[in-house]
Amino acid sequence: NVMLSWQRTAYHFQPEKNWMNDPNGPLFHKGWYHLFYQYNQESAVWGNITWGHAVSRDLIHWLHLPYAMVPDQWYDVNGVWTGSATILPDGRIMMLYTGDTHDVVQVQCLAYPADLSDPLLLKWVKYQNNPVMVPPPGIGHKDFRDPTTAWLSPDGDKWRITIGSKINTTGISLVYETADFFKYELLDGYLHEVPGTGMWECIDFYPISLTESNGLDTSANGQGIKHVMKVSLDDDKNDYYALGTYDPVKNKWTPDDPELDVGIGLRYDYGKYYASKTFYDQNKKRRILWGWIRETDAEALDILKGWASVQSIPRTVVFDQKTGSNILQWPVEEVESLRSDSLEFNAKLEPGSVVPIEVDSGSQLDIVASFELDKETFEVTTEADIGYDCPTSGGAVNRGMLGPFGIVVLADENLLELTPIYFYIAKGPHGKVETHFCADELRSSVAPDVDKIVYGSKVPVLDGENLTIRSLVDHSIVESFAQGGRRVITSRIYPTTAIGGAARVFLFNNATRASVNASIKIWKMSSANIRPFPLDQL
Ligand code: FRU
Repeated sequence: NVMLSWQRTAYHFQPEKNWMNDPNGPLFHKGWYHLFYQYNQESAVWGNITWGHAVSRDLIHWLHLPYAMVPDQWYDVNGVWTGSATILPDGRIMMLYTGDTHDVVQVQCLAYPADLSDPLLLKWVKYQNNPVMVPPPGIGHKDFRDPTTAWLSPDGDKWRITIGSKINTTGISLVYETADFFKYELLDGYLHEVPGTGMWECIDFYPISLTESNGLDTSANGQGIKHVMKVSLDDDKNDYYALGTYDPVKNKWTPDDPELDVGIGLRYDYGKYYASKTFYDQNKKRRILWGWIRETDAEALDILKGWASVQSIPRTVVFDQKTGSNILQWPVEEVESLRSDSLEFNAKLEPGSVVPIEVDSGSQLDIVASFELDKETFEVTTEADIGYDCPTSGGAVNRGMLGPFGIVVLADENLLELTPIYFYIAKGPHGKVETHFCADELRSSVAPDVDKIVYGSKVPVLDGENLTIRSLVDHSIVESFAQGGRRVITSRIYPTTAIGGAARVFLFNNATRASVNASIKIWKMSSANIRPFPLDQL
């Protein structure tokens, strides 16, 4: 166990041991952020799913609480699965979740806090007439799960939720209406459907302001608002989203761009990231996104470690007013309270250069880097190579005229282990110059039995913009944000020598032609305080 202990993260949320998956029912109540999560009390692999529970004042330091719900009723004895919270105008909290019944049918159940005046919401009551929804005719018993947060219907007197399912291989979202959270009516048609995308898990559906930087309550709609729809595709284990328009009268959401429809277009994260969920933080008037980062090593190693999975650093979500075609995700500002000892460095990176940066705590960093093509390089961008795609590129060793260049993190001194996060400029099929943002795990670890993938996608870059990366490095996780959060890549990696104080950072430019002016700022990140709540001191 000790052998693998350095892989534990220092400022990402994790239980003390065992398996965790999806974030559930995030909410803010009486001064505390609450996070619930899918948890196995017994081992480091999925099973016996229970709701773990933790609270935080600032989304960074966490206190573990007793389980909120355990699988103890006929309707959830095979698992208290994923769910979402709705805070009613009178302050009551309705928690809808999926129960996996004694005969393995997915049903929706209701729970609520026993005592709303308790800021810790320690005790949860399962509604006596559960389940409140069962699979409707035509829907498979194993294809009906993960209710969303509710929003108000157009008349304002009823609530609506959506639940993911599939018909053959078409992913669909069912919509139910309820006045009291006890009785539900299935509305006609689907909120949306996309052929070929398979089962939709963990749908998220929320409004986003086109003009303001604050988040919106889930019931907001009207002028200056679009709706984001997110689905987690069971078939390929990625979270896809699209921007679109919601018509509550027709009970339809329509994507802005059918070619970038949900499930076939944009992803929240081009690395390891799944089953995510947002909530409206009424405390700071923002929308916050949580996501599950799973392991990519062998199950036997997870059992040896005694734990599996972490949650991402929560991210604020806003509309990208500059491109108009994507959201921006950014680590919540509170994470910056962990920063100390900043260091700044500027360099002109000639083709083929690797420049070490002196850091003494390379496994816990917040890095902000900016790259600008040197003037004479800029003039030759039209001569860039044609065609690039991070996942099939072979990674940062492969040189082109205008890329790759970027940062290297979690590297050992001899560069035997290293994870490059970089840009690569190339011409697209129609001759247009495009920028790609990639994370290359191929040499991230000398360990044989872990996934090593080159992740990435094209990223929009507007005229006059520098290329920017922000990376949060935390031992075995790197969350990287390009262009202020237009694209995000989470890497789950398992270095064996680039660990603790031995982990290094480099700037690099492996292009054959481009000269790049780089500037980098690095902060050391303190560990977050994540421990059991001292309940005996209450
Ligand atoms: C997504 C998911 C959900 C389900 C839960 C079970 O990872 O499969 O669809 O509710 O996990 O743990």
